[in-house]
Amino acid sequence: MDIKELGVAVIGSGRIGTLRASMAARHPAKKFLIVADKEKDRAEVLRQKTGADLATDNNYEAISHPEVNAVFVSTPEDDHVEAIMQAIELGKPIFVEKPLALRNEDCDAIIDAAEAAGVELVIGYSRRHDRRWMMAKEQIAQGNIGEIIGMQQRVYNTRAQMLEIVKRCLDATPVMDVLTYYVDMACWFMGDIKPVEVVARTHGKVFKEMGYDINEMTWTLITFENGAVVNLGIFYALPARYPTYGQSPRFEILGKDGVILLDVDNKDSVFFTEKGTPHAYVPDHDVNMLFMQTNSSGDWAVGDYWGPIANETRTWLDHLITGAPTGHTTAREGRRTVAVTLAIEEAAKTGKAITLDLK
Ligand SMILES: NC(=O)c1ccc[n+]([C@@H]2O[C@H](COP(=O)([O-])OP(=O)(O)OC[C@H]3O[C@@H](n4cnc5c(N)ncnc54)[C@H](O)[C@@H]3O)[C@@H](O)[C@H]2O)c1
Repeated sequence: MDIKELGVAVIGSGRIGTLRASMAARHPAKKFLIVADKEKDRAEVLRQKTGADLATDNNYEAISHPEVNAVFVSTPEDDHVEAIMQAIELGKPIFVEKPLALRNEDCDAIIDAAEAAGVELVIGYSRRHDRRWMMAKEQIAQGNIGEIIGMQQRVYNTRAQMLEIVKRCLDATPVMDVLTYYVDMACWFMGDIKPVEVVARTHGKVFKEMGYDINEMTWTLITFENGAVVNLGIFYALPARYPTYGQSPRFEILGKDGVILLDVDNKDSVFFTEKGTPHAYVPDHDVNMLFMQTNSSGDWAVGDYWGPIANETRTWLDHLITGAPTGHTTAREGRRTVAVTLAIEEAAKTGKAITLDLK
Protein backbone atom coordinates (compact mmCIF):
# COMPACT_ATOMS: atom_id res chain seq x y z
CA MET A 1 0.00 0.00 0.00
CA ASP A 2 1.35 3.41 -0.89
CA ILE A 3 -1.19 5.90 0.42
CA LYS A 4 -0.22 9.42 1.48
CA GLU A 5 -3.66 10.98 1.66
CA LEU A 6 -6.90 9.32 2.70
CA GLY A 7 -10.14 9.36 0.74
CA VAL A 8 -12.67 7.66 3.00
CA ALA A 9 -16.14 6.24 2.26
CA VAL A 10 -18.38 5.39 5.20
CA ILE A 11 -21.28 3.10 4.24
CA GLY A 12 -24.09 3.28 6.81
CA SER A 13 -24.53 6.58 8.65
CA GLY A 14 -26.02 5.20 11.87
CA ARG A 15 -24.51 5.16 15.34
CA ILE A 16 -21.22 3.45 14.52
CA GLY A 17 -20.87 4.91 11.01
CA THR A 18 -21.15 8.32 12.67
CA LEU A 19 -18.20 7.49 14.92
CA ARG A 20 -16.10 6.14 12.03
CA ALA A 21 -16.85 9.22 9.90
CA SER A 22 -16.13 11.57 12.81
CA MET A 23 -12.76 9.91 13.41
CA ALA A 24 -11.94 9.91 9.68
CA ALA A 25 -12.90 13.59 9.39
CA ARG A 26 -10.36 14.58 12.04
CA HIS A 27 -7.53 12.36 10.75
CA PRO A 28 -4.62 14.56 9.62
CA ALA A 29 -4.22 12.62 6.33
CA LYS A 30 -7.89 12.93 5.38
CA LYS A 31 -8.30 14.61 2.01
CA PHE A 32 -11.81 13.45 1.07
CA LEU A 33 -14.79 11.98 2.92
CA ILE A 34 -18.06 10.66 1.50
CA VAL A 35 -20.86 9.22 3.63
CA ALA A 36 -23.66 6.92 2.44
CA ASP A 37 -26.88 5.57 3.87
CA LYS A 38 -29.90 3.96 2.29
CA GLU A 39 -31.82 6.75 4.05
CA LYS A 40 -30.52 9.86 2.26
CA ASP A 41 -31.48 12.15 5.17
CA ARG A 42 -29.23 10.24 7.58
CA ALA A 43 -26.27 10.55 5.22
CA GLU A 44 -26.96 14.26 4.82
CA VAL A 45 -27.13 14.79 8.61
CA LEU A 46 -23.78 13.01 8.97
CA ARG A 47 -22.27 15.02 6.09
CA GLN A 48 -23.17 18.23 7.90
CA LYS A 49 -21.97 16.93 11.26
CA THR A 50 -18.55 15.82 9.97
CA GLY A 51 -18.01 18.34 7.18
CA ALA A 52 -17.85 15.44 4.69
CA ASP A 53 -17.51 16.39 1.03
CA LEU A 54 -20.49 14.37 -0.20
CA ALA A 55 -23.52 12.40 1.01
CA THR A 56 -25.35 9.79 -1.03
CA ASP A 57 -27.96 7.03 -0.82
CA ASN A 58 -26.02 5.02 -3.41
CA ASN A 59 -23.32 2.83 -1.79
CA TYR A 60 -21.61 2.06 -5.09
CA GLU A 61 -21.30 5.76 -5.91
CA ALA A 62 -19.45 6.26 -2.59
CA ILE A 63 -17.21 3.18 -2.83
CA SER A 64 -16.28 3.74 -6.48
CA HIS A 65 -15.60 7.47 -6.10
CA PRO A 66 -12.12 8.05 -7.60
CA GLU A 67 -10.91 9.89 -4.47
CA VAL A 68 -11.81 6.93 -2.20
CA ASN A 69 -9.00 4.61 -1.06
CA ALA A 70 -10.49 3.32 2.24
CA VAL A 71 -13.98 1.94 2.91
CA PHE A 72 -15.82 1.53 6.22
CA VAL A 73 -18.84 -0.79 6.02
CA SER A 74 -20.99 0.22 9.00
CA THR A 75 -24.37 -1.15 7.92
CA PRO A 76 -26.38 -3.58 10.11
CA GLU A 77 -25.15 -7.14 10.67
CA ASP A 78 -27.27 -8.70 7.89
CA ASP A 79 -26.29 -6.06 5.32
CA HIS A 80 -22.48 -6.16 5.15
CA VAL A 81 -21.89 -8.48 2.20
CA GLU A 82 -22.90 -6.38 -0.83
CA ALA A 83 -20.81 -3.31 0.07
CA ILE A 84 -17.80 -5.50 0.97
CA MET A 85 -17.98 -7.27 -2.39
CA GLN A 86 -18.20 -3.95 -4.23
CA ALA A 87 -15.10 -2.65 -2.43
CA ILE A 88 -13.20 -5.89 -3.14
CA GLU A 89 -14.12 -5.67 -6.83
CA LEU A 90 -12.74 -2.12 -6.88
CA GLY A 91 -9.57 -3.15 -4.99
CA LYS A 92 -10.14 -0.83 -2.00
CA PRO A 93 -9.14 -1.76 1.59
CA ILE A 94 -12.11 -2.47 3.84
CA PHE A 95 -12.93 -2.07 7.50
CA VAL A 96 -16.23 -3.85 8.25
CA GLU A 97 -18.15 -3.84 11.53
CA LYS A 98 -18.51 -7.16 13.35
CA PRO A 99 -19.59 -9.82 12.63
CA LEU A 100 -18.11 -10.22 9.14
CA ALA A 101 -21.40 -11.80 7.96
CA LEU A 102 -24.17 -13.95 9.41
CA ARG A 103 -23.55 -17.12 7.35
CA ASN A 104 -20.41 -19.21 6.91
CA GLU A 105 -21.01 -19.33 3.14
CA ASP A 106 -20.95 -15.53 2.93
CA CYS A 107 -17.72 -15.40 4.96
CA ASP A 108 -16.11 -17.97 2.64
CA ALA A 109 -17.15 -16.02 -0.46
CA ILE A 110 -15.75 -12.79 1.03
CA ILE A 111 -12.41 -14.36 2.00
CA ASP A 112 -12.02 -16.06 -1.38
CA ALA A 113 -12.75 -12.83 -3.25
CA ALA A 114 -10.55 -10.66 -0.99
CA GLU A 115 -7.60 -13.05 -1.17
CA ALA A 116 -7.91 -13.46 -4.95
CA ALA A 117 -7.99 -9.68 -5.39
CA GLY A 118 -5.26 -9.05 -2.77
CA VAL A 119 -7.56 -6.66 -0.89
CA GLU A 120 -7.01 -6.10 2.83
CA LEU A 121 -10.08 -6.54 5.01
CA VAL A 122 -10.27 -6.11 8.79
CA ILE A 123 -13.21 -6.49 11.16
CA GLY A 124 -14.27 -4.12 13.93
CA TYR A 125 -14.04 -6.28 17.04
CA SER A 126 -13.48 -3.11 19.05
CA ARG A 127 -13.06 -4.78 22.44
CA ARG A 128 -9.52 -5.74 21.41
CA HIS A 129 -8.64 -2.04 21.20
CA ASP A 130 -9.22 -1.26 24.86
CA ARG A 131 -5.76 -1.19 26.45
CA ARG A 132 -6.20 -4.01 28.96
CA TRP A 133 -7.10 -6.61 26.31
CA MET A 134 -4.09 -5.60 24.18
CA MET A 135 -1.90 -5.97 27.28
CA ALA A 136 -3.33 -9.44 27.92
CA LYS A 137 -2.49 -10.46 24.35
CA GLU A 138 1.04 -9.07 24.77
CA GLN A 139 1.66 -10.98 28.03
CA ILE A 140 0.34 -14.20 26.46
CA ALA A 141 2.49 -13.66 23.34
CA GLN A 142 5.57 -13.14 25.54
CA GLY A 143 4.85 -16.48 27.22
CA ASN A 144 4.41 -14.91 30.65
CA ILE A 145 1.41 -17.03 31.70
CA GLY A 146 2.57 -20.17 29.91
CA GLU A 147 0.23 -22.48 28.05
CA ILE A 148 -3.42 -21.51 28.49
CA ILE A 149 -5.31 -24.25 30.38
CA GLY A 150 -8.67 -22.48 30.10
CA MET A 151 -10.57 -19.21 30.31
CA GLN A 152 -13.75 -17.97 31.93
CA GLN A 153 -15.76 -14.98 30.70
CA ARG A 154 -19.18 -13.46 31.17
CA VAL A 155 -20.78 -10.27 29.86
CA TYR A 156 -23.89 -8.42 31.08
CA ASN A 157 -25.86 -5.47 29.72
CA THR A 158 -29.32 -3.98 30.12
CA ARG A 159 -32.45 -5.07 28.30
CA ALA A 160 -32.80 -1.46 27.06
CA GLN A 161 -29.63 -1.75 24.98
CA MET A 162 -30.46 -5.24 23.70
CA LEU A 163 -33.82 -3.91 22.48
CA GLU A 164 -32.02 -1.32 20.33
CA ILE A 165 -29.96 -4.12 18.79
CA VAL A 166 -32.94 -6.33 17.90
CA LYS A 167 -34.81 -3.34 16.46
CA ARG A 168 -31.88 -2.89 14.04
CA CYS A 169 -31.61 -6.57 13.03
CA LEU A 170 -33.68 -9.53 14.23
CA ASP A 171 -30.78 -11.92 13.54
CA ALA A 172 -28.48 -9.95 15.84
CA THR A 173 -29.03 -12.19 18.87
CA PRO A 174 -27.01 -11.65 22.08
CA VAL A 175 -24.71 -14.49 20.96
CA MET A 176 -24.31 -13.36 17.34
CA ASP A 177 -23.98 -9.69 18.14
CA VAL A 178 -22.15 -9.56 21.49
CA LEU A 179 -20.78 -12.90 22.67
CA THR A 180 -18.98 -12.93 19.31
CA TYR A 181 -16.57 -10.27 20.72
CA TYR A 182 -15.42 -12.78 23.35
CA VAL A 183 -15.23 -15.64 20.85
CA ASP A 184 -12.90 -13.35 18.89
CA MET A 185 -10.95 -12.55 22.07
CA ALA A 186 -10.63 -16.17 23.24
CA CYS A 187 -9.52 -17.41 19.79
CA TRP A 188 -7.07 -14.48 19.48
CA PHE A 189 -5.55 -15.38 22.85
CA MET A 190 -5.30 -19.06 21.84
CA GLY A 191 -3.37 -18.09 18.68
CA ASP A 192 -2.92 -21.00 16.25
CA ILE A 193 -4.57 -23.53 18.59
CA LYS A 194 -7.96 -24.28 17.04
CA PRO A 195 -11.34 -24.65 18.74
CA VAL A 196 -12.69 -28.16 18.08
CA GLU A 197 -15.97 -28.57 19.98
CA VAL A 198 -18.80 -26.42 21.32
CA VAL A 199 -21.57 -27.21 23.82
CA ALA A 200 -24.09 -24.64 25.07
CA ARG A 201 -27.29 -24.09 27.04
CA THR A 202 -29.65 -21.15 26.70
CA HIS A 203 -32.70 -19.68 28.43
CA GLY A 204 -34.84 -16.57 28.16
CA LYS A 205 -38.04 -14.90 29.38
CA VAL A 206 -37.66 -11.13 29.06
CA PHE A 207 -37.55 -10.75 25.26
CA LYS A 208 -40.02 -13.60 24.63
CA GLU A 209 -42.55 -11.72 26.77
CA MET A 210 -41.92 -8.68 24.51
CA GLY A 211 -42.62 -10.78 21.39
CA TYR A 212 -39.03 -11.41 20.22
CA ASP A 213 -37.85 -14.98 19.64
CA ILE A 214 -34.48 -14.57 21.38
CA ASN A 215 -32.95 -15.76 24.65
CA GLU A 216 -31.11 -13.31 26.87
CA MET A 217 -28.90 -15.94 28.53
CA THR A 218 -26.47 -18.40 26.94
CA TRP A 219 -23.55 -20.26 28.52
CA THR A 220 -21.12 -22.20 26.39
CA LEU A 221 -18.04 -24.40 26.72
CA ILE A 222 -15.54 -24.40 23.89
CA THR A 223 -12.81 -27.04 23.81
CA PHE A 224 -9.58 -26.33 21.93
CA GLU A 225 -7.35 -28.90 20.21
CA ASN A 226 -4.79 -28.82 23.08
CA GLY A 227 -7.55 -29.63 25.59
CA ALA A 228 -8.01 -26.04 26.86
CA VAL A 229 -11.58 -25.41 28.02
CA VAL A 230 -13.11 -21.97 27.58
CA ASN A 231 -16.36 -20.98 29.28
CA LEU A 232 -18.11 -17.95 27.72
CA GLY A 233 -21.45 -16.55 28.85
CA ILE A 234 -23.89 -13.75 28.25
CA PHE A 235 -26.90 -12.27 30.05
CA TYR A 236 -28.32 -9.24 28.19
CA ALA A 237 -31.43 -8.42 30.18
CA LEU A 238 -30.32 -6.61 33.31
CA PRO A 239 -33.01 -4.12 34.40
CA ALA A 240 -33.32 -1.29 31.85
CA ARG A 241 -31.87 1.37 34.15
CA TYR A 242 -29.04 -0.63 35.70
CA PRO A 243 -26.16 1.88 35.47
CA THR A 244 -24.15 0.34 32.66
CA TYR A 245 -24.12 2.06 29.27
CA GLY A 246 -22.64 -0.90 27.43
CA GLN A 247 -20.98 -4.25 28.02
CA SER A 248 -20.01 -5.23 31.58
CA PRO A 249 -17.60 -8.14 31.16
CA ARG A 250 -15.20 -10.19 33.22
CA PHE A 251 -12.53 -12.26 31.54
CA GLU A 252 -10.12 -14.62 33.29
CA ILE A 253 -7.22 -16.35 31.56
CA LEU A 254 -5.76 -19.31 33.43
CA GLY A 255 -2.29 -20.36 32.33
CA LYS A 256 0.21 -23.00 33.44
CA ASP A 257 2.56 -20.31 34.80
CA GLY A 258 0.33 -17.31 35.39
CA VAL A 259 -3.12 -15.77 35.36
CA ILE A 260 -4.78 -12.62 33.99
CA LEU A 261 -8.00 -11.45 35.68
CA LEU A 262 -9.87 -8.65 33.88
CA ASP A 263 -12.71 -7.07 35.83
CA VAL A 264 -14.36 -4.68 33.38
CA ASP A 265 -17.61 -3.98 35.26
CA ASN A 266 -16.22 -0.47 35.92
CA LYS A 267 -18.02 -0.30 39.27
CA ASP A 268 -15.07 1.67 40.62
CA SER A 269 -16.00 4.78 38.59
CA VAL A 270 -19.38 6.21 39.54
CA PHE A 271 -21.06 9.28 38.05
CA PHE A 272 -24.27 10.55 39.68
CA THR A 273 -26.35 13.55 38.62
CA GLU A 274 -29.82 14.84 39.45
CA LYS A 275 -29.94 16.19 35.88
CA GLY A 276 -29.89 12.81 34.09
CA THR A 277 -27.23 11.72 31.63
CA PRO A 278 -28.12 10.58 28.08
CA HIS A 279 -27.36 7.09 26.76
CA ALA A 280 -25.20 7.05 23.59
CA TYR A 281 -27.06 4.04 22.19
CA VAL A 282 -30.59 4.15 23.64
CA PRO A 283 -32.65 7.27 22.82
CA ASP A 284 -34.70 8.97 25.61
CA HIS A 285 -33.01 6.90 28.31
CA ASP A 286 -31.42 9.31 30.79
CA VAL A 287 -30.29 7.76 34.07
CA ASN A 288 -29.07 9.43 37.26
CA MET A 289 -26.23 7.05 37.98
CA LEU A 290 -23.68 5.61 35.59
CA PHE A 291 -20.58 3.42 35.87
CA MET A 292 -18.19 5.53 33.82
CA GLN A 293 -16.34 3.91 30.87
CA THR A 294 -19.11 1.34 30.42
CA ASN A 295 -19.97 2.74 26.98
CA SER A 296 -18.24 -0.07 25.07
CA SER A 297 -17.39 2.02 22.02
CA GLY A 298 -15.96 5.02 23.92
CA ASP A 299 -16.92 8.53 24.98
CA TRP A 300 -16.73 12.12 23.71
CA ALA A 301 -14.84 14.38 26.13
CA VAL A 302 -12.91 17.66 25.81
CA GLY A 303 -13.36 17.82 22.07
CA ASP A 304 -12.23 14.31 21.15
CA TYR A 305 -13.44 10.71 21.17
CA TRP A 306 -11.76 8.35 23.67
CA GLY A 307 -11.89 4.60 23.90
CA PRO A 308 -11.82 1.40 21.84
CA ILE A 309 -13.53 2.69 18.68
CA ALA A 310 -11.27 5.76 18.65
CA ASN A 311 -8.13 3.60 18.95
CA GLU A 312 -9.40 1.06 16.46
CA THR A 313 -10.39 3.61 13.79
CA ARG A 314 -7.32 5.78 14.16
CA THR A 315 -4.86 2.88 14.08
CA TRP A 316 -6.47 1.43 10.93
CA LEU A 317 -6.28 4.78 9.12
CA ASP A 318 -2.67 5.21 10.32
CA HIS A 319 -1.87 1.69 9.12
CA LEU A 320 -3.13 2.48 5.60
CA ILE A 321 -0.46 5.18 5.42
CA THR A 322 2.43 3.63 7.36
CA GLY A 323 1.80 -0.07 6.66
CA ALA A 324 2.63 -0.73 10.35
CA PRO A 325 1.12 -3.93 11.81
CA THR A 326 -1.99 -3.57 14.01
CA GLY A 327 -4.06 -5.72 16.35
CA HIS A 328 -7.18 -5.69 14.16
CA THR A 329 -9.14 -8.86 13.54
CA THR A 330 -8.09 -10.25 10.17
CA ALA A 331 -10.50 -11.62 7.58
CA ARG A 332 -9.55 -15.23 8.39
CA GLU A 333 -9.89 -14.61 12.13
CA GLY A 334 -13.28 -13.02 11.44
CA ARG A 335 -14.45 -16.06 9.52
CA ARG A 336 -13.31 -18.41 12.33
CA THR A 337 -15.14 -16.27 14.86
CA VAL A 338 -18.37 -16.36 12.85
CA ALA A 339 -18.08 -20.17 12.53
CA VAL A 340 -17.62 -20.62 16.29
CA THR A 341 -20.37 -18.11 17.10
CA LEU A 342 -22.83 -19.89 14.80
CA ALA A 343 -21.82 -23.22 16.37
CA ILE A 344 -22.70 -21.79 19.82
CA GLU A 345 -26.17 -20.84 18.49
CA GLU A 346 -26.64 -24.34 17.06
CA ALA A 347 -25.36 -26.09 20.19
CA ALA A 348 -27.70 -23.96 22.33
CA LYS A 349 -30.68 -24.66 20.06
CA THR A 350 -30.15 -28.42 19.70
CA GLY A 351 -28.57 -29.21 23.07
CA LYS A 352 -25.95 -31.25 21.15
CA ALA A 353 -22.16 -30.98 21.07
CA ILE A 354 -21.05 -29.41 17.78
CA THR A 355 -17.75 -30.56 16.30
CA LEU A 356 -15.79 -27.85 14.51
CA ASP A 357 -13.60 -28.51 11.50
CA LEU A 358 -12.04 -25.12 10.87
CA LYS A 359 -9.69 -24.30 8.01
N1 LIG B 1 -17.70 -1.95 17.58
C1 LIG B 1 -18.71 -1.58 18.33
O1 LIG B 1 -18.52 -1.15 19.49
C2 LIG B 1 -20.09 -1.66 17.79
C3 LIG B 1 -21.16 -1.22 18.57
C4 LIG B 1 -22.44 -1.30 18.04
C5 LIG B 1 -22.64 -1.83 16.77
N2 LIG B 1 -21.58 -2.28 16.06
C6 LIG B 1 -21.78 -2.84 14.69
O2 LIG B 1 -21.93 -1.76 13.77
C7 LIG B 1 -22.87 -2.11 12.73
C8 LIG B 1 -23.96 -1.04 12.67
O3 LIG B 1 -24.55 -0.87 13.93
P1 LIG B 1 -25.20 0.55 14.36
O4 LIG B 1 -25.40 0.47 15.81
O5 LIG B 1 -24.42 1.67 13.80
O6 LIG B 1 -26.61 0.45 13.59
P2 LIG B 1 -27.58 1.66 13.24
O7 LIG B 1 -28.92 1.05 13.04
O8 LIG B 1 -27.43 2.77 14.20
O9 LIG B 1 -27.02 2.17 11.81
C9 LIG B 1 -27.06 1.41 10.63
C10 LIG B 1 -27.28 2.39 9.47
O10 LIG B 1 -27.11 1.69 8.25
C11 LIG B 1 -28.15 2.08 7.34
N3 LIG B 1 -28.31 1.01 6.37
C12 LIG B 1 -28.97 -0.17 6.53
N4 LIG B 1 -28.81 -0.93 5.42
C13 LIG B 1 -28.05 -0.20 4.57
C14 LIG B 1 -27.54 -0.44 3.27
N5 LIG B 1 -27.75 -1.59 2.64
N6 LIG B 1 -26.81 0.53 2.69
C15 LIG B 1 -26.56 1.70 3.30
N7 LIG B 1 -27.02 1.98 4.54
C16 LIG B 1 -27.73 1.03 5.16
C17 LIG B 1 -29.35 2.35 8.22
O11 LIG B 1 -30.27 3.22 7.57
C18 LIG B 1 -28.68 2.99 9.44
O12 LIG B 1 -28.57 4.41 9.31
C19 LIG B 1 -23.35 -3.53 13.06
O13 LIG B 1 -22.58 -4.47 12.34
C20 LIG B 1 -23.04 -3.67 14.56
O14 LIG B 1 -22.83 -5.00 14.96
C21 LIG B 1 -20.32 -2.19 16.53
